[in-house]
Amino acid sequence: MATGFSFTLAATDGRARTGVITTPRGEIRTPAFMPVGTAGTVKAMLPDSVRATGADILLGNTYHLMLRPGAERVARLGGLHKFMNWERPILTDSGGFQVMSLSSLRKMTEEGVTFSSHIDGSKHVLTPERSMEIQRLLGSDIVMAFDECTPFPAAQDVSLESMRRSMRWARRSRDAFGDRLGHALFGIQQGSVFREQREESAEALKAVGFDGYAVGGLAVGEGQGQMFDVLNYAPGMLPDDKPRYLMGVGKPDDIVGAVKRGIDMMDCVLPSRSGRTGQAWTRRGQVNLRNARHADDPRPVDEACSCPACRNYSRAYLHHVVRANEMIAGMLLTWHNLHYFQEIMAGMREAISKGRFASWENDFQSRRSEGDI
Ligand code: GUN
Ligand code: ZN
Repeated sequence: MATGFSFTLAATDGRARTGVITTPRGEIRTPAFMPVGTAGTVKAMLPDSVRATGADILLGNTYHLMLRPGAERVARLGGLHKFMNWERPILTDSGGFQVMSLSSLRKMTEEGVTFSSHIDGSKHVLTPERSMEIQRLLGSDIVMAFDECTPFPAAQDVSLESMRRSMRWARRSRDAFGDRLGHALFGIQQGSVFREQREESAEALKAVGFDGYAVGGLAVGEGQGQMFDVLNYAPGMLPDDKPRYLMGVGKPDDIVGAVKRGIDMMDCVLPSRSGRTGQAWTRRGQVNLRNARHADDPRPVDEACSCPACRNYSRAYLHHVVRANEMIAGMLLTWHNLHYFQEIMAGMREAISKGRFASWENDFQSRRSEGDI
């Protein structure tokens, strides 16, 4: 087990938890939202700006960085933190999920996955061992086990076979990772929407022993209802004293519902990606700045928001730069969205620490149902 890496719970409120993950590169306040920096950048944001939104940790991707610029090159240049000028913690996903969603000519065997790059068609191989090596070369602080994100929907026998292979790969990931001071390895639970498979997966991971545990295979088209059904039991199958990470989630109400059910960490491209298409997420829901109703509106996106987009610019300006495809549109809206997501996390951390999560959630929901003004 990694030392120099620890998780301390400060308070719980119902199933919701707040605490701190300590790493040699800094503390991660939980519940934590991790902005996605797939290719060595949170698109449209400088690292200092990402930090200014309140992020303690970023997510990077094995798949993208192994293809371009290459993990060995990043290592020669001093590692991913130095390369991208982000000195705080980085979690890297292990590659399997992105291989399945982006590459072509995929072939999966017990050994691993061979695939063709979505960039230039070149052939590559990912195995648990190679994924651990790439994440080590990148200098990742939190390394994810190599898994298969079981597609949804999956027949029970198909999901079972996929989950069991991921559990064998989790064992191989653990063996290949070894013991690395200050670096953590997280296992990933699979099992689709089948409770007994989630249980078997959790037991398999706990038998191997990880520094944290992710709930994988969700937010893949099952919808919020079925996702919450799984989250009603899955986090409780994982150790209480280790961080629990829900991968690829989500919209603000998904995030709040996940924290309510015992999740400590999340990541999603939503705030950054939707910022680049003119979408703002606010306390009152979603606002499309492309819409003509904003053309003459002198008010900010959200008068209660302290981000640079809301402090310094009108809806009319944002509407104009979105329509004109100006780069500042994506920059300002990404900043706003990341700021809002981090504000949700800070609000939940404070509410949980004071035992007021239920009333915080009630306020969160009622403002959303008022809608944009
Ligand atoms: N991102 C979203 N879901 C998953 C998953 O199940 N596994 C991995 N590795 N990454 C994910
Ligand atoms: Zn704002």
